[in-house]
Amino acid sequence: MASIERTLSILKPDATAKPGVAGEILARFERAGLEIIAMKKIRLSEELARGFYAVHKERPFYADLVKFMTSGPVVVSVLQGPGAIAAHRELLGPTNSSEAPAGSVRGDFGTDIERNAAHGSDAPETARVEIAYFFDAAEILAPVEALT
Ligand code: RTP
Ligand code: MG
Repeated sequence: MASIERTLSILKPDATAKPGVAGEILARFERAGLEIIAMKKIRLSEELARGFYAVHKERPFYADLVKFMTSGPVVVSVLQGPGAIAAHRELLGPTNSSEAPAGSVRGDFGTDIERNAAHGSDAPETARVEIAYFFDAAEILAPVEALT
C-alpha cells in the first residue's frame, strides 16, 4: 500500500478560462482517491509566479511561463491520498499537451508544452515547499479519514 502523501495542484489559466473544466479536473482527482484538503482560486502576481517557478529562471521559456501563469485565475489545491504525488502526475500526463494521451488532463484540456492545464508537484520535498508557498498550516484541513 502506497504511503499517504500530500501534493500541490494548480489548475492553470488556460483551464480556468474554459467553462466547467476546473470542476471536471477536480472531479477526476477526487474519483482517483485524492482528497482536496485545501483550495483557493487566486490571480497570481508576477512576483508569486516568478517565485513559484524560480527553479526554471535560467530557462528560455521562463518569461513566457510567468506571463501565462499571470494571465488569468488559477485554482490552487492540496491533494492528499495514497501515493498522491505520482498518482496526481499520472492523471495529468506528460508536460507537453500535444504528446499527452486522450483521457489525461493535459491531453484533454491542454494545448501545447506551455499551456498544459495543470501543475503537479514532482517529489515529496518539492510538494512540501510548494504547499507552504501557497497555504498556511491553518488553511489545510484534516483529511476526512482522520475524523472517522
Ligand atoms: P509543472 O511543474 O507545471 O507540473 O510541469 P512539469 O513538471 O511537467 O514541467 P516542468 O519542466 O517543471 O515545466 C514547468 C512548466 O513550464 C512550462 N514549460 N514550457 N516552452 C517550453 O519549452 C516549456 N517547457 C515547460 C509548462 O507550463 C510546464 O508545465
Ligand atoms: Mg515541474
